[in-house]
Amino acid sequence: MQTRYWNLQNDTDGVMLREAAALIKAGEAVAFPTETVYGLGADGLNGTAVRKIFEAKGRPNDNPLILHIADKKDILKLTTGLTKQAEILIDKFWPGPLTVIVAKSSIVPDEVSAGLDTVAVRMPSHPVAAELIRLAGTPVAAPSANLSGKPSPTDAETVLADMQGRIAGIVDGGACSVGVESTIVDTTGPVPVILRPGGITREQLEEVLGLVELDPALAGAETLKPKAPGMKYRHYAPKAKMYVVEGEALQKLPLLAVAAAKFAPVAVICGGEVAEAMKRAENLHILNWGTEKTELAVKLYRLLRRCDKLGVELILSEGVTEDGIGLAVMNRMRKAAGRQVLTADEIDALLKNSTQLKSFVLK
Ligand code: TXA
Ligand code: MG
Repeated sequence: MQTRYWNLQNDTDGVMLREAAALIKAGEAVAFPTETVYGLGADGLNGTAVRKIFEAKGRPNDNPLILHIADKKDILKLTTGLTKQAEILIDKFWPGPLTVIVAKSSIVPDEVSAGLDTVAVRMPSHPVAAELIRLAGTPVAAPSANLSGKPSPTDAETVLADMQGRIAGIVDGGACSVGVESTIVDTTGPVPVILRPGGITREQLEEVLGLVELDPALAGAETLKPKAPGMKYRHYAPKAKMYVVEGEALQKLPLLAVAAAKFAPVAVICGGEVAEAMKRAENLHILNWGTEKTELAVKLYRLLRRCDKLGVELILSEGVTEDGIGLAVMNRMRKAAGRQVLTADEIDALLKNSTQLKSFVLK
């Protein structure tokens, strides 16, 4: 399939967005920017069109999609009724990086909801997304525009790398400003539950809702089944083995990184402070995200893909505290690392024994 590529910087009269919207209306899949990550959109009321998304991504079909709308009132057609909590959230956080799970109406195809009796709905704030959905004149079903299992794309070049030849078109509207996906809140029960932390923080939700629960499966108990089906997959995984280093262990990260780089290429994903403390060495790639957690959110997925391109054997990633956007960032970082963490004691042991360090790096 020929994939069209529209760079909106050259779209002086809106003709490109109209072409993209026409393809969505015609039942094709088109990638577009949102404030969180790039989405791969299709007509959300057309089951045949929605199936093209699953095919292009290689996505398991038990994983439901989010319907994107351009007007708050458009959710009313998609649901049999909103709870008070849902109304409060929509009023306060739309448009923006928040998805609500609501009881679905009969017009939502099974391909979207994967057989559940609920549906996920979000109204993005990105002006390009809003205009494209409005022009398409239908709710747009859209997962992140990556191949299944890879980190979500936060720019159009990355979408192209994953999706060229697999979809009808890509709308390039520049880089995403949030960088991690939307927060998903199940509003159907008595207490709202965060199924996936994201761009709207837990603190922001608590401010308007009072009590908010976290899906217990998010705390890492592998035995629990997450309520958002997609959260059970090992997402965001880079090719190299990856470890989170945090708290007390962080001081030892620079020494470990330099020592490990003697055996194979190593990447360190870290903030400016740790980057400054680190000696430069051959085969050591320091991927510095800056000072604020919001910067880490914006860059994390791009840095994970960068590690793949660099061909490193080992990734050491600085963990941050789980307040604010840190909850979403650490959820993704821990998943990328397959939940592997290095403690201060473990690092000490590796630094003392170079044979052990070598086999750790090369294993
Ligand atoms: O920021 C975002 O949310 C991006 C942009 C493109 O809007 N989209 C996104 O979609 O992250 P996706 O498909 O990559 O992730 C959607 C998640 C999956 O984990 C899925 O299982 C969950 O939402 N989900 C969808 N419908 C659901 C439902 N009815 N109940 C529970 N979880 C649901
Ligand atoms: Mg995704």
